Amino acid sequence: MPLTVSVTGPTGEIGGSLIDALERSEAVDAVRGMARRPFDPAAAGWRKATYQRGDILDRGHLAELFGGADVAVHLAFSIFGDREETRRINLEGSRNVFEAAVDAGVERLVYASSVAAYGFHPENPQPLTEEAPAIGSSRFYYSAQEAELEESLDEILAGSELAAYVFRPCIVAGPRATMLIEQTVGAVRLGDPLPRLRRHVLGRVPLPRPTLPDAGVPLQLVHHDDVAAALAAAVEGKGPPGAYNLAGDGQILIADIARALGWHSIRVPRSALGATSAVAGRLSFISPQLEWGTALTTPVLMDTTKAREELGWEPRFDAAETLLQTAVSARETGVLE
Ligand SMILES: NC(=O)c1ccc[n+]([C@@H]2O[C@H](COP(=O)([O-])OP(=O)(O)OC[C@H]3O[C@@H](n4cnc5c(N)ncnc54)[C@H](OP(=O)(O)O)[C@@H]3O)[C@@H](O)[C@H]2O)c1
Repeated sequence: MPLTVSVTGPTGEIGGSLIDALERSEAVDAVRGMARRPFDPAAAGWRKATYQRGDILDRGHLAELFGGADVAVHLAFSIFGDREETRRINLEGSRNVFEAAVDAGVERLVYASSVAAYGFHPENPQPLTEEAPAIGSSRFYYSAQEAELEESLDEILAGSELAAYVFRPCIVAGPRATMLIEQTVGAVRLGDPLPRLRRHVLGRVPLPRPTLPDAGVPLQLVHHDDVAAALAAAVEGKGPPGAYNLAGDGQILIADIARALGWHSIRVPRSALGATSAVAGRLSFISPQLEWGTALTTPVLMDTTKAREELGWEPRFDAAETLLQTAVSARETGVLE
């Protein structure tokens, strides 16, 4: 039976690639996407997929989106917002989504959680398998929310027939996912609050290239098309429900990001970055974004054997290639001035 698939957050970094993958899937007959912004599906080349504006905080919008669907995919999230807004959308909104999926009687729910759900704990085994508990880090809002949500999902689904696939991707990057570079540029600007004024005064004189501190903490990356391939396999019901780690092969360092951007890096002891991150964490009432430093001070590497064996997932891009494509795209699209 051809599938009807409803997707929250189809306009985001992962959503665009997922819709493209579902457009190509012979198992999928129709796709419905919902997010808040105006969006023209025809201009994006969608043929099977339609788009409706709506908010996951509105149960009526969700009932309309999921009514008659076979599979619900939940990608709508607020990754970088203020604490109150992220809590409302991510916790209240996602609970709405999970409950609406149960009420609508969909067969499968595919949800993109994150590596952050495990939390950034030095005692975590490396690499982490899906057996590790998703307990989050209380000092990092995004990580705490992802862990809380996975717990809510278990509660909401208890006793229902719905099969849930929970994906835990590492940092997602690629030409359509330049958030990593936007945030790096943003962090550099935070340290240099007068870039516009300096540019105004110096005119076209090139500004010095930024230097990023590299504490030697390895990071994994996964390409958005590889994430989409894993989610599409779950949509088609290819493997058993459950949690799946997603990461491309290989690892990168902050020094590699600096090199890809044409910037400099300087090696610093992990303890120095840890201390900076602790201070930043205490200042997070100014901006919750400062809590993201936590992710750069404790390595959290994942084992992806389960997705490969159970879903037949084979990521096409490794971390180095994904970084390269992201940097090229950031340059072309003006993310990097
Ligand atoms: N990007 C990564 O590096 C990464 C890594 C690991 C896990 N993940 C997880 O993957 C999921 C998707 O991430 P992403 O990178 O695609 O995020 P994204 O680029 O920020 O996109 C978020 C999507 O959610 C929609 N949205 C936000 N608030 C909404 C609301 N109240 N109602 C309806 N739609 C709403 C947005 O559209 P509108 O703003 O127009 O509503 C957009 O389509 C998230 O759960 C994230 O935690 C992402």
